[in-house]
Amino acid sequence: MHTPSVITIDGPAGAGKSTLGALLAQQLGYLYFDTGVMYRALTLIALRRRLDLDDALALEQLARQIKIEVLEPSTPDGRQYTVCVDGEDVTWAIRAPEVNRAVSQVSRHPGVRTEMVRQQQDIGRRGNVVMVGRDIGTIVMPHAELKIYLEASLDERARRRAAEERKRGQETALEQIRADIARRDELDHHVMRPASDALILNSDDLSPDREVAWILERMPVVKQSPTKVSSHNTRV
Ligand code: DC
Repeated sequence: MHTPSVITIDGPAGAGKSTLGALLAQQLGYLYFDTGVMYRALTLIALRRRLDLDDALALEQLARQIKIEVLEPSTPDGRQYTVCVDGEDVTWAIRAPEVNRAVSQVSRHPGVRTEMVRQQQDIGRRGNVVMVGRDIGTIVMPHAELKIYLEASLDERARRRAAEERKRGQETALEQIRADIARRDELDHHVMRPASDALILNSDDLSPDREVAWILERMPVVKQSPTKVSSHNTRV
């Protein structure tokens, strides 16, 4: 018997998935993997190369060509991890407003998603991972033993995003952030649904520590071997 080898956390932008995922992974000694960085990294490179963001084939090819790596933090500047594309550190570049604006457009192409999902499944298969995203419980790791769908109201998500940006020295009006998040909800709608066996957690009135406690209280004790559970190869 063991704790679930793969834990998925899905939910809308700004619900607090990364904070929760990182904290939970730290407590369990698991790898924390935020799949959104892969879509962001691809978008950054597509923008730099001035690709047409409606050109599904070009974006799919780019997704297959570039090497995206998520590594241990290389600098103590508040980062949770270091993201490299073909060896270049793009950790902060993928958080730029132009990437925020374009990432939903890039990630909606099925060919792009197939490639990203394939790479994410390779990581998930290794086990002992908390994987965060939108479609992890439904598409990437549908056999995960513990699935969380994290919700929060639009107002609360906007407040949190504003606070995060302030910490990074970025000052954006709350109304603007609220509108951006609402727009992304709209665009990401096609991938945003809880798995039928997901636990729904509303984080509006909970601190990240309370959220972790809530999850640990509901942690199933699993009898199967971790490799067996995660060795599926679901395709989109
Ligand atoms: O979680 P995030 O804001 O960093 O995600 C960036 C974008 O990537 C978001 O607009 C939706 C997309 N995304 C996705 O489609 N599937 C995932 N598993 C993760 C992110």
